[in-house]
Amino acid sequence: MQKGHRIFLNIQAPGLFTVNNKNEKMIMSKILITGATGKLGSAVVNELVEKQGPANVSVLVRDPSKAAALKEKGVELVQGDYNDYQSLVKAFQGVDKLYFVSSSEIANRSQHHENVVKAATEAKVGHIIYTSFQRKTDDDSSPVAFVAAAHVLAENLIKESGLKFTLMKHALYADILPMFMGDQVLNSGVIFLPAGDGKASYTSRGDMASAGVAVLTSEGHDNKTYEISVDKSYSLTDIAAILTELSGKPVNYAAPDAETFTAALTQAGVPAQGILFPVSFCTAINQGEFDFPNTTLEKLIGRKPESIKDFLKKVYVPGLPS
Ligand SMILES: NC(=O)c1ccc[n+]([C@@H]2O[C@H](COP(=O)([O-])OP(=O)(O)OC[C@H]3O[C@@H](n4cnc5c(N)ncnc54)[C@H](OP(=O)(O)O)[C@@H]3O)[C@@H](O)[C@H]2O)c1
Repeated sequence: MQKGHRIFLNIQAPGLFTVNNKNEKMIMSKILITGATGKLGSAVVNELVEKQGPANVSVLVRDPSKAAALKEKGVELVQGDYNDYQSLVKAFQGVDKLYFVSSSEIANRSQHHENVVKAATEAKVGHIIYTSFQRKTDDDSSPVAFVAAAHVLAENLIKESGLKFTLMKHALYADILPMFMGDQVLNSGVIFLPAGDGKASYTSRGDMASAGVAVLTSEGHDNKTYEISVDKSYSLTDIAAILTELSGKPVNYAAPDAETFTAALTQAGVPAQGILFPVSFCTAINQGEFDFPNTTLEKLIGRKPESIKDFLKKVYVPGLPS
């Protein structure tokens, strides 16, 4: 070696520090994000890369040809499928922090969740962060048991795995409101959903992603379970009043019972599968399943989460000045 040359060791071990663009000291861990081509996962990747750059960030994708935008960001693409256990074991090698987005395939998600947790255990992942779901009822009596069961299973498997974990129990996404109310609600002036006067702490997907980034880039989250929601709950009567205020047009909440709602949608030609989701989720809202006002999210992200009013303004009256 020539005199005067310095040796740089390129070791990327957990516990090394880097400094981000805000001059904050952050730990450099090897992070892998699943579901990265989806809405939640891509929001996490975008914010994470903005915060600390793409080094040490990799993403699990089923089909790398669909992930050109992620590749352009400079993150590493790793091919893997929740259906393919060996692909997961391979993808998880050397990972310090795994951000595991729950499977979106309702029919197969229990098997998917089992595959991911077992593969993470076999690969000795340092820490698993799981995007779970707020609920008051774990058993079959829940109107949304068909969604909740795979989360209950994943949480139990993760706790039994011996891995370090953080369970992010996500509120009901604010994003489901426009899905259920429809894009014509300001014109019709009616919210027609069977949620009675039940309240929910609707929280935007963007803020869930920010909470994930906070956990991925700081310490102190080992073996914690977080309720990720805004600090206030709203009924659909409240939502109607907010829409009225924002648009200047009267919006009222009609609260049909589940039978009347089902009959009306069936008569309008909506297939049974399309009715199942709004009926079961609205029945659960009516029972208070998603009523979890909480300040953990605000503490994690260090700012006020997006209010439901701002969220609805963005969706329904985007031209309105703030
Ligand atoms: N709390 C709530 O109110 C609420 C509301 C909506 C969703 N969620 C939950 O949040 C999760 C993420 O939501 P999202 O809106 O981001 O969903 P999304 O946009 O549909 O994204 C799903 C992601 O999962 C990936 N994926 C699906 N099947 C896979 C498999 N077999 N192997 C590997 N990856 C697979 C998809 O990859 P491809 O691009 O290859 O398809 C995609 O990247 C959902 O799965 C759901 O559990 C919760």
